Amino acid sequence: MKQAYESIAWQEDHLVILDQTQLPLREIYSDVNTVGQVWDAIKKLKIRGAPAIGIAAAYGLYLGVRDLKSKNFTSFNVELNRWIEYLKSSRPTAVNLSWALERVNQTVYANKDKDLEEIKEIILKTAETIHSEDKRVCRKIGQNGAKLVKKGSNILTHCNTGGLATGAYGTAFSVLLHANDDDKDIHVWVDETRPLLQGARLTTWELQKAEIPFHLITDSMAGSLMNTGKVDIVVVGADRVTANGDTANKIGTYSLAVLAKENNIPFYVALPLSSFDLETDTGEEIEIEEREPEEITHLNKTQITPKKTKAYNPAFDITPNKYITGFITEKGIVEPNFKKNIKKLFD
Ligand code: MRU
Repeated sequence: MKQAYESIAWQEDHLVILDQTQLPLREIYSDVNTVGQVWDAIKKLKIRGAPAIGIAAAYGLYLGVRDLKSKNFTSFNVELNRWIEYLKSSRPTAVNLSWALERVNQTVYANKDKDLEEIKEIILKTAETIHSEDKRVCRKIGQNGAKLVKKGSNILTHCNTGGLATGAYGTAFSVLLHANDDDKDIHVWVDETRPLLQGARLTTWELQKAEIPFHLITDSMAGSLMNTGKVDIVVVGADRVTANGDTANKIGTYSLAVLAKENNIPFYVALPLSSFDLETDTGEEIEIEEREPEEITHLNKTQITPKKTKAYNPAFDITPNKYITGFITEKGIVEPNFKKNIKKLFD
């Protein structure tokens, strides 16, 4: 299985990103040369999706420190931690961002006695490792998840969880790719995913490239489709899953999960281990990013509401664990009892 595009690529001395705000109308690859540009690309969703922002942030950290002229490790470390906090501030909900930055930080600490130029190279190498590991992990998630998909299934998915949102293949999207590759004759219902239309703009783009049959629907249609027997399984991604299995994902995921339970439809969350946050006990403690109201009141910069309309725009919601059938990970399927079984993944 080969993917024809990469959302993030390291080329010699800089990052190249596929600008996801321009898709599907324009496929624009932009050079990213500074840590400030990485922060901006994450904030503006040019790079988006939990694993992808973690990967980008790790490269961003290298871009932040590579020209530092620190005299010793202590002063280098102060600067490094300043960039870590800065990058973390770009988006609060997806745990992969802090996970990747902390992983680089720990690697730096383990090598603190080395020459500073050598430490900088170790930072770049760690970013590259996080990137290549994610590709491998996502392939495995797809292989594991495809086993849950019965022949002829109608699969409903939300937001975008594909190669655009990860190192390659995706999470929930990788399940679609692998089920399709296994000749399962799948058909996908794609939620458009208001307000930024990651489903309508990005998942459709990736499904077309993979030649997987699909129909786009508006978010509010999902319940009726479930109630009339048109959905066999729901598979979504995650931005952060807490120790008890509560799941933060794109706004609208919670409604899908409740509707799936009401209609006896299995509801799976596909994610890498890097999206679990065992330090947080329950979903109530997760910070939900609130974005600009203009994302709702405007479409393509044109206002679609009366002037001065106030809009509330949380970008994610929390699905309590009781609505989740299981988690699809690179280490296999996690079934209830989640608290115990999620912990086992890390033993
Ligand atoms: O705001 P976004 O587009 O970054 O939100 C993305 C999602 O909610 C995805 O479902 C999640 O990050 C998993 S991507 C593999």
